[in-house]
Amino acid sequence: MSGASPTQRAGAGLESELRAELEAMGEAGTLKSMPVLTSPQGPAVEVEGRGPVLCLCSNDYLGLAADPAVVRAGLRALVAYGAGTASVRFICGKFKPHVELERDLATFCETEAALTYVSCWNANAALLDALCDERTGVFSDRLNHASIIDGMRLARPAHKAVYEHADPEDLRRRLAEAPALGRRLIVTDGVFSMEGDLAPLPELAEIAAEHDATLIVDDSHGIGVVGETGRGALERFGLLGREDVILTGTLGKALGGAAGGFVAGGAALCAVLEQRSRPQLFSNGLPPTVAASSRQALAVLRERPGLVAELRAKTALMRAELSTAGLAPLEGESAIVPIIVGETRAAIEISRRLLDRGVYVTGFGYPVVPEGTARVRVQVSAALSEEQIADGARAIAAAATELAVAPARAGLRR
Ligand SMILES: Cc1ncc(COP(=O)(O)O)c(C=O)c1O
Repeated sequence: MSGASPTQRAGAGLESELRAELEAMGEAGTLKSMPVLTSPQGPAVEVEGRGPVLCLCSNDYLGLAADPAVVRAGLRALVAYGAGTASVRFICGKFKPHVELERDLATFCETEAALTYVSCWNANAALLDALCDERTGVFSDRLNHASIIDGMRLARPAHKAVYEHADPEDLRRRLAEAPALGRRLIVTDGVFSMEGDLAPLPELAEIAAEHDATLIVDDSHGIGVVGETGRGALERFGLLGREDVILTGTLGKALGGAAGGFVAGGAALCAVLEQRSRPQLFSNGLPPTVAASSRQALAVLRERPGLVAELRAKTALMRAELSTAGLAPLEGESAIVPIIVGETRAAIEISRRLLDRGVYVTGFGYPVVPEGTARVRVQVSAALSEEQIADGARAIAAAATELAVAPARAGLRR
């Protein structure tokens, strides 16, 4: 007879169920692998057991994750403020790097104020939850980031509508059909993370104004990337500084890539969120080290605005090289360059073969993207050399061709 207690036996049952789930994913070819990096993020990363590989899938759009000034700022804050906040802000105070970063973020985003969270996931969930009451309606783009989708679930607004992707007319219809509401929130990604396209923000802002609604834009992939000076999709469309627009973003991508997120908007909004949004009340603040290195990343962007133009030029080059190599990436203005390959298994297999060739590009499949639209998502960084871009594009084309997925679905030109 086994000496295991009933609780241990129940745990073992769960473990074996989960093992079966993993095995099924393995058999279906949909199990994601997660290489271990032993170097900082950058154009070439060290992968344990493999050595250096060309990285074409990080969010380090401006190459600031290992920028010496960004790293030094974090180190200085580590020495000055220790490892972390050791408490929630309202219980034990916020740190000077929080105040400085939030002030600089507000200036950068041209808003009255900004408030940081430990991630943009948290920022989105906090914002939606805090703004929704029994008379609030939320109108969300079908392809919004998972943090918005889950944030809406958590917030349980009185009315929820999902409009077709980037379709202002469908949004208009959904607003017209909605019951009488007190507050209306229209929520969209600025740059869509899986497609790399931009939201039709001028039309959305116009509809928001017509319906006395507030437009919330999560520009995690647009900040530092889109717009003349990297202020994102709002800058691109001339919408910075509008009182009826709330911006959310991450510090975990172009702005140094560490972690953290923020809400930028009116002073009252940020004050209310600081007072009563749940992650502010029940979870530690951003580590001061991260706040300091993110602030330095903003400073680098201010001092070297040419970085954004460089990223744009390198992205155009990547698109051109992929086309020359026979692929047809989705069009777009961001640094996300997706190549649709169809089946999840194909996307994962292409990515596996690429890693064997020393090129790190992730394949995305179901449930991250709808079934049948699996893709290889290339992300460009200003830190990549032209030679790395050309090599990467050729390697991707070779792996897609090798796999002999139907050309049209592989994003290969007929
Ligand atoms: C559009 C969008 N919003 C939010 C997030 C989450 O950001 P964070 O990693 O800061 O939680 C991401 C990250 O993938 C994203 O792409």
